[in-house]
Amino acid sequence: MNNKKPNIAVLIVAAGSGERFGADVPKQYLPLLGRPVLNWSVDIFSQHPDIKSVYVAIHPDHAGQFAAIAPGISAIHGGGTRQQSVLKGLEEIARRDKPDYVLIHDAARPGLSTELITNICITLKINEAVIPGLPVTDTIKRTNGASVKTESRDNLYAIQTPQGFKFDTILALHRQHADKSLTDDAALCEIAGPAVKIVAGEKGNFKVTHPEDLALMEQTIAARCGDIRTGTGYDVHKLVEQAGRKLMICGMELQHTHVLEGHSDADVGLHAITDALLATICDGDIGMHFKPTDARWKNADSSTFLRHAAGLVAAQGGIITHVDVTIICEAPKIGPHRDAMRARIGGILALPLNRVSVKATTTEGLGFTGRREGIAAEAVATVRLPFTSRPVLRDDDIRKWGT
Ligand code: CTP
Ligand code: MG
Repeated sequence: MNNKKPNIAVLIVAAGSGERFGADVPKQYLPLLGRPVLNWSVDIFSQHPDIKSVYVAIHPDHAGQFAAIAPGISAIHGGGTRQQSVLKGLEEIARRDKPDYVLIHDAARPGLSTELITNICITLKINEAVIPGLPVTDTIKRTNGASVKTESRDNLYAIQTPQGFKFDTILALHRQHADKSLTDDAALCEIAGPAVKIVAGEKGNFKVTHPEDLALMEQTIAARCGDIRTGTGYDVHKLVEQAGRKLMICGMELQHTHVLEGHSDADVGLHAITDALLATICDGDIGMHFKPTDARWKNADSSTFLRHAAGLVAAQGGIITHVDVTIICEAPKIGPHRDAMRARIGGILALPLNRVSVKATTTEGLGFTGRREGIAAEAVATVRLPFTSRPVLRDDDIRKWGT
């Protein structure tokens, strides 16, 4: 038996203009609980252990916007219709990679769950085409304007994405039927391809089409991530005179007579936020994840640590909703750099500016910060987690630790 892990790629189609939604910006770039709609699916696929690579088909006019919100994710220029965007995407994936399978997903469906992705991947092991669907529960009627006729809803399904296929099969079908106009990829299999397997879709995986859908999606995801956590972080680094070393605070280089001493770049602000994020998921502290004795972190850019902590939150299905950091020092002045720092932190955490707060205070000449011996930073992070990630106390633990 071949136990090698299959190479599964994902193609997210996001080249549409969202005409029915009618906003100035295409719906996939609008904010949804603090993250662009598109990022929800990019992030969930990127963090899924069964998925090897994620590609996004975008409109060429949105290349700059896309690079800003999803750095490091491969962008492919889509086409004039969804079907053309998929074909262009698959052709580009074929040039860059040779995946065994591909999952094709609409960016307009940000509410899919990790479990749904897992289910599609597992079902693909014994099927060439797998799609999520929900049995239709409403009564279905057909009308020609003049009369109305009730249709049987027996065996009718409302079909969603991601749709999973053997890569070579779906690419060949898309090439062969590029002239036809279809609304999903599995329709190609119905013309000439393999049998299509329907697995259980999810109510929360509906397509954002009209403005009211976005509000409903926000409520759906918020309800799923209602376990609100708060974490604090605190850090101190010593001020020293050292030629050639930069003073980094909250990801920005500041000009000053002194710099902060430390194994990494000693960015006291980013360290405090990193600890605050780790605290929300009860996952130790920065020193546990990045040993101060490890040569890899010598003079390291502390944005790496912060990004790692954010990745751990995301891996639990969490959403960072807000971070706040206070820098405690007499000098340098933080105020003039405040907004640049907020933008930098927001860039690292994919958070908009109104979810990142940077403050500063002196200690009126008192204590080590007052004597300018060091700089301290204190941070608070707020995260929403799915209730399922709550640690469960087993009977043994209760016997051992309970009173
Ligand atoms: N899509 C695409 N390329 C196109 C058209 C659509 O990649 N030329 C993508 C959309 O970005 C969306 C998905 O296909 O993620 C499903 O399409 P739909 O919900 O219809 O989005 P839009 O086409 O953008 O919306 P509308 O039809 O209202 O204009
Ligand atoms: Mg459309």
